[in-house]
Amino acid sequence: MFMTVIFAGAPCIHAQSVAIDEEVEQFQGFFLERFFSVSLEEFNEGPYSLPQSARQAATFHFLEQLPPYMHDLIPARSEWNRTYNGVTLKKCMAQYPPANQFPYVIDNQVMSIEMAILGCLALQDRSFAESDSMELAALTAVFREQARGLANQVSLDDEKLKTLYREGRRIFWARQGQYNYSCASCHVQNAGNTLAGELVSPALGHTTAFPVYSQTRASRAGNGWVTLHEQYQRCMSRMGVVTPTLGDQRLLALEVFQTMNDVSIPLKAPQSRP
Ligand code: HEC
Repeated sequence: MFMTVIFAGAPCIHAQSVAIDEEVEQFQGFFLERFFSVSLEEFNEGPYSLPQSARQAATFHFLEQLPPYMHDLIPARSEWNRTYNGVTLKKCMAQYPPANQFPYVIDNQVMSIEMAILGCLALQDRSFAESDSMELAALTAVFREQARGLANQVSLDDEKLKTLYREGRRIFWARQGQYNYSCASCHVQNAGNTLAGELVSPALGHTTAFPVYSQTRASRAGNGWVTLHEQYQRCMSRMGVVTPTLGDQRLLALEVFQTMNDVSIPLKAPQSRP
């Protein structure tokens, strides 16, 4: 707990003076010390990264052998190679680096994978993929799985990314909403503890698993995919905060902040969740 208090205060006090790479090292160091049996590379299975989840992790690993998202992923993989308007997503997305280098800055604009795919879909003259559609999430999963095992490498020097990182950091640490929680209250201070029957995941590694496929969501809504931004919305409503709509800059800022903290952790997306 002592550790937590010092660490939780640090980003506010040193906000402008500490370099981002030092902050990232401090952030990673906190989790590596707290969960000393887990190596940095192993922080890529959300709550299942932690020894506290051993029992649930056994089920998770068993399921991953024949994952519940496969029946959705397979058609999306063929969509990836299908030609519309003379363009395939495979070819169009080849103008970008692999998924482990996103969010990526091109033409002075910070792009998430979803934004890049939407741009390609527009070239294909297809409009089915609204920013919250399950097709888009499945296509994101196809692009992310191609970079499975590659370590996250986001530029810590780009000015645009740095600005979003700072905004994301502010949102992450700010107490807000009805219950006066911050993201950190749960995913830093309470990582590894159980809240309402759920084991709370460490913030470190959060981005590497996404999109995830929730079996509960699949059985209720027919669409199991949960993108990172949708997960942020879910947690914000848990906090009693008015949630930003998809496409909002604040969600991108949180993604940039979290991805920068996940630097060097190998991607392991998609993954299933209960
Ligand atoms: C009241 C506690 C609480 C707060 C506050 C909270 N979350 Fe969560 N979050 C959870 C729980 C519980 C889950 C589901 C179990 C898990 O994976 O941690 C979850 C899941 C997640 C996941 C998915 C992890 C995975 O691999 O499945 C991400 C990412 C996440 N939260 C990010 C955030 C962010 C960013 C914020 C702040 C905007 C936030 N959370 C605020 C409790 C919280």
